[in-house]
Amino acid sequence: MDALGVQLETELKRFDVSPENMIETVFIGGGTPSTVDPQLYAPIFDRIRPFLQEGAEITSEANPNSSTYEWLEGMKELGVNRISFGVQSFNDDKLKTLGRAHNTQHALEAIKNASKIGYKHLSLDLIYGVQGDTKELLQSDIDQAFQLPIDHISLYSLTIEEETAFEKSPEMASEQLDLTQWLFDEISAKGFEQYEISNFGKYKSKHNIGYWEHKSYIGLGAGAVGFLGSTRLYPTTDIEAYIDTPLSIKEENLNEAELLNEKLFLGFRSCVGVDQTLLSKPQYSQAQMLLDGGLLEFRHGRYFNPNFLLADEITLRIEGY
Ligand SMILES: C[S@@+](CC[C@H](N)C(=O)[O-])C[C@H]1O[C@@H](n2cnc3c(N)ncnc32)[C@H](O)[C@@H]1O
Repeated sequence: MDALGVQLETELKRFDVSPENMIETVFIGGGTPSTVDPQLYAPIFDRIRPFLQEGAEITSEANPNSSTYEWLEGMKELGVNRISFGVQSFNDDKLKTLGRAHNTQHALEAIKNASKIGYKHLSLDLIYGVQGDTKELLQSDIDQAFQLPIDHISLYSLTIEEETAFEKSPEMASEQLDLTQWLFDEISAKGFEQYEISNFGKYKSKHNIGYWEHKSYIGLGAGAVGFLGSTRLYPTTDIEAYIDTPLSIKEENLNEAELLNEKLFLGFRSCVGVDQTLLSKPQYSQAQMLLDGGLLEFRHGRYFNPNFLLADEITLRIEGY
């Protein structure tokens, strides 16, 4: 059995996966899933298929230049019903700046092919806050996106990550908040509801929402983080080491304060909100003050943040007590 198979058996036991505890969503990400032959995923699907909930959302990320018609067909046959295309922009110069291997034509073709093949849900990612971004460029990206058969868009502000090409040029990331607010309004005005700071759609991704609701999830593969109850699980990110020892998984037990911090942070930047009963007395009075000030809404025992751009401030404001 290969490393993935060994880890999968262990995780299915650890998470007590069974007909009474079924799998709601699957997300194939990484790396670049579209460079892997669908047949190589088949053993994992064969193993989990008996535990897939009826109508489970099964997403795969895909890069436009490697998601061929055959690959898209092969993934659909496995049961994948949602594709998230890493488009980033429909402007070839910007794609070059971002160091992406695909061009606009690749993206248009891949998305149209996925629709022809009959995928239920199609999403695309766009990156903004990149040096050189103009309202015109972002407007044309959005207009192009809405000419395509998609039901979801994720909009990410460029972040400079370590050990990436941009590490030495941090000036590449230049978010302008007014442009960000305008982008949010433009996408919402076209009928895609914003349900998290980066996510918009006629369809809301169950997998994304599951993260924000702190649901437990298995992380399978090198560097694929898992979460069970209040324990985060970190398989090694080193592929060679993972192949040798797939079960050498570091565990991080989150204490009450850390869990609350995450629930505030994730709840106020998404449609999930924050359960009132989680808050201490001083935090509750802070939340009530924000409610009276119109910065929070309250429904069914939960506080909701109507302006995701204020999520960090609101979290700090409440957590500080
Ligand atoms: C977060 S996942 C996409 C999940 C997907 N949107 C969904 O709803 O299922 C991968 C995406 O992260 C974004 N991304 C990757 N590196 C980034 C960076 N340095 N800054 C901002 N966004 C980045 C890219 O848009 C990439 O396609």
